[in-house]
Amino acid sequence: MSRPSTAALIPAAGTGERLGMGPKAFVCLGQKTLLMHVVDAFDGLVDEIVVAVSPEMVNEASGRISNARMIVGGSSRQATVLNLLRATAAELVIVHDAARPFLEPAVIDRTLAATRRHGAVTAARPVVDSLIDTTSQMSVDREKLRAVQTPQGFRHELLLRAHLRAFEGGYSATDDAALVRRLGHEVALVEGSPMLMKVTTLQDLEMARALERSWCRADT
Ligand code: C5P
Repeated sequence: MSRPSTAALIPAAGTGERLGMGPKAFVCLGQKTLLMHVVDAFDGLVDEIVVAVSPEMVNEASGRISNARMIVGGSSRQATVLNLLRATAAELVIVHDAARPFLEPAVIDRTLAATRRHGAVTAARPVVDSLIDTTSQMSVDREKLRAVQTPQGFRHELLLRAHLRAFEGGYSATDDAALVRRLGHEVALVEGSPMLMKVTTLQDLEMARALERSWCRADT
């Protein structure tokens, strides 16, 4: 039996307001933009790579990146992912934020393998800090909790159904796995990585630039 076709879907249409350096996906980290790091990580591991950027960035991004197809994103991350889902016919999709540039091949491999098995999967990490509920002032047991990251993998049909239900119902979530769980479908967890840090603030970018120097050495 042939393997189901795969696509990496990369939402990169954010404004990067908290970072304050223009569209975040196009901020440089070493020799490449955040977005190029992510596109290159998927190169050769999936059948196609589709990236969604803001309308102003489409021409520039298409000119600079040859190993992915560019489309226009939406006004929220969720709207952007829906556009991406409509732009591919792949049977399995892996959604990964452009804001998480350090994507190891092993993470992609285990996400793809688990998606083939379960149909819905997210990378997640144990929580290492102690936690407090600020309303009740009570400690929260961190053993049961996981921090959710991307990549997240799904059967295309399942994630599209979850997004259309959310669109019709007018509700939103900060990640795609949450929308799939709202359909009543279980989402399997695969081991994420501390390297999957999300670049949100200037401090994150400084940390990422320090990390990138050793990441490049490990790459060669
Ligand atoms: O803003 P935040 O870091 O949470 O965004 C996560 C990812 O979603 C980023 O890669 C960003 O470019 C993307 N995004 C998008 N379309 C939007 C808003 C965010 O593709 N309208």
